[in-house]
Amino acid sequence: MKDETRLVHAGRDPERHYGIVNMPVYRASTVLSPTLADFKARAKGDRKYRGVRYGAYGTPSTFALADAVAGLEGGAGAVATASGLSAVTMAITAFVGRGDHILAADTVYTPTRQFCDGPLARFGVETTYYDPRIGGEIERQIRPETRIVFCESPGSLTFEVQDIPAIAAAAHRHGALVLLDNTWATPLFFKPFDHGVDVSIQAGTKYIAGHSDLVIGIITARTEELFRRIKETTFAFGDIPGPDDCYLALRGLRSMGARLRQQQESALAVARWLSERPEIRRVMHPALPGDPGHDLWQRDFTGASSLFGVVLKTGSEAAVARMVDGYRFFKIGASWGGYESLVLPAGPKRTRTAVPWTEPGYVLRYHVGLEDPEDLICDLADGFARLGTDA
Ligand SMILES: Cc1ncc(COP(=O)(O)O)c(C=O)c1O
Repeated sequence: MKDETRLVHAGRDPERHYGIVNMPVYRASTVLSPTLADFKARAKGDRKYRGVRYGAYGTPSTFALADAVAGLEGGAGAVATASGLSAVTMAITAFVGRGDHILAADTVYTPTRQFCDGPLARFGVETTYYDPRIGGEIERQIRPETRIVFCESPGSLTFEVQDIPAIAAAAHRHGALVLLDNTWATPLFFKPFDHGVDVSIQAGTKYIAGHSDLVIGIITARTEELFRRIKETTFAFGDIPGPDDCYLALRGLRSMGARLRQQQESALAVARWLSERPEIRRVMHPALPGDPGHDLWQRDFTGASSLFGVVLKTGSEAAVARMVDGYRFFKIGASWGGYESLVLPAGPKRTRTAVPWTEPGYVLRYHVGLEDPEDLICDLADGFARLGTDA
């Protein structure tokens, strides 16, 4: 089955639901068993991981979303979680214990970093940050106690593309697992398990849900064993999304291919236009030839989503505020992957440690939505007119 067909048909079963096209919302805590034997059987074997036995362990609504994403990513099984961030933290927590070490890309989502430096460190797990462009050289940083190499490719603020196959080969030689935050590419544009990844994470909040109206996460595992370990961890922490959010995420998934095709094209048009502007030092978009990650992107990805960055020539906060505050369509806000365009100050200087960010100029992140790209370009052009002479 091709991905486009899977997007339409995965995670629903009309014959089991009166012919109703969409998977209904199952709201449940208690699930009744007809007999004692049935109650006990539900907690054993495959039914423990995939069966309906108690709301916090999953309902047909959560399983439908997880199974649909697992199929798209190409994994053995998936677990839906309460947010994209909890998908990250649960996936990491599943595989580490006191005294262990993890390697994380210097470009990971800032709350991922805060989790590693905060709770994870308190529980005795050490994190070392590595240059996202390290490739196979990561082998030198792997220690006997390294359990995880955590990747995010491209990094969602400055868009460095990682050489995942080279990193995975090195990690696997030393018995470490490769976890990837695959949210930027979505399951459509990067197939994690074909490139050596063991566990793939989606902030379903972004392109999967697609409408900026919920937070949700999905963790997909390469093998059944990894899937079960993750599921046991989310059981233990009681991490579960609500069924209404699963329903909405599944509804978003149906149109994700069409939205992404459009947003990819519009984002490229906007990024190309920006790259010609005198106010711009550089555009950070891996699908643009000349981007430092372009060759890896071309080798490993089958498309680009609509989130990219720019480094402005100016470093003036006041000038940038004049430009950004007046945008009609690029509204200021966190997150991305919805139908609407957004802009965000990226501030990579604040977080980087392995490769400190020294480049001059203000860094902005743009998310291109489903508006007409000509309107978006007009909005940006008007913004540049507001930058003024102190820029
Ligand atoms: C790359 C990346 N991963 C994970 C997350 C977390 O997702 P959520 O907002 O659903 O917790 C985000 C959110 O911005 C993100 O950008």
